[in-house]
Parts: sequence; structure tokens; C-alpha cells
Amino acid sequence: MSAELELDLTLYPAPVLRRVAASVEAFDEELERLVAAMFARMAASKGVGLAAPQVGLKKRVLVLNPTGDPQDALALVNPKLKELFGPKTVFDEGCLSFPGIFAEIERPDGCRVEAIDAAGNPIQGEYTGFVSRIIQHEHDHLEGILLVDRMSPADKLRNKAALEELVARYKDSKKATPARRR
Ligand code: CO
Repeated sequence: MSAELELDLTLYPAPVLRRVAASVEAFDEELERLVAAMFARMAASKGVGLAAPQVGLKKRVLVLNPTGDPQDALALVNPKLKELFGPKTVFDEGCLSFPGIFAEIERPDGCRVEAIDAAGNPIQGEYTGFVSRIIQHEHDHLEGILLVDRMSPADKLRNKAALEELVARYKDSKKATPARRR
């Protein structure tokens, strides 16, 4: 029995959330373990989507499950948004890296995606509505784009105190674990 991988959430403003993630090259057992652990972390945190930078990894991997039903689970490796289509819609988005913060974000309703699954098989799909919304949000993470970047000035102002608290908490966490090398 292999030990299960346990992943912690990476919260804003950790620098890894700002990096452009790198393509996955190896479709191996390690990748399958990572995907399984990401699904576990997402479920435990009651999220509907999670991207690898949110667990501190600069990899182009995302998982989602809009309903929590195992048959709706979707893992996308090296996903490419080939096309965005349909009317722009507004939705109150949250993000596991921004606990307690929500903002009305406008995105096209649909997306056409090419990706690879955790076992290395190609996936092509067209998604609309909530699933498309999650995919577009998680894909942003792979590009280092965050909820705060897409917020309206009004939402930024409304969430100002909560955002500042996250920054303060991050600075405190750095003080608690000083760098080993000086
Ligand atoms: Co997010």
C-alpha cells in the first residue's frame, strides 16, 4: 500500500500562485497520485475546482467536480482553451486560495478544451455553464492569473480588508518559518 499524498492549500499572496505553470511531461504513477491527492484536498476544502499552483506546484494540472458526485470528476492535464464562446455571463466566484472572498466575474459562457487525462489519454470537450466557469477559473491559475486580477474596482474595495488580512497572515507565516539560508 502506497502512502497517500497529503496536500496543503497555498493561499494568496504566495508567489507560486503568480508563476506560469509548466507542462507535465511524465504521465506516470506520481501524476496519478498527485491528481488523486488534489481531488481529496478539493473535497476536504469543499471546493469545486483546484489547480496545482494552489497546492504549491508549478504544474499544468487541474481538477474539478461541480457536484461532488464521483462521476462528475474531471482532471485536466496540460489543458488548452482552444476557443471561448457564447454570451458573457457574470457569476459570484470564490477561490480556495482566497478564503471568504467572493467577486462577480464576467466570462464567456462556453469553452472548447483540449487536454490529457491523468492516465495520458487525450480529452476534447466543449463545456458551458458552471463547468466551463470552473475550467476557465482554474486555467487562469495555470497562467498565474488570480481572482483579485479579474475583480471590479468595486469588488476590490468591498474585499479590501479581507485581502489585507490574507497578506498580513502570509507575512506572519513567513516570520514563523524563517528561511534556512541567509
Ligand atoms: Co481559484
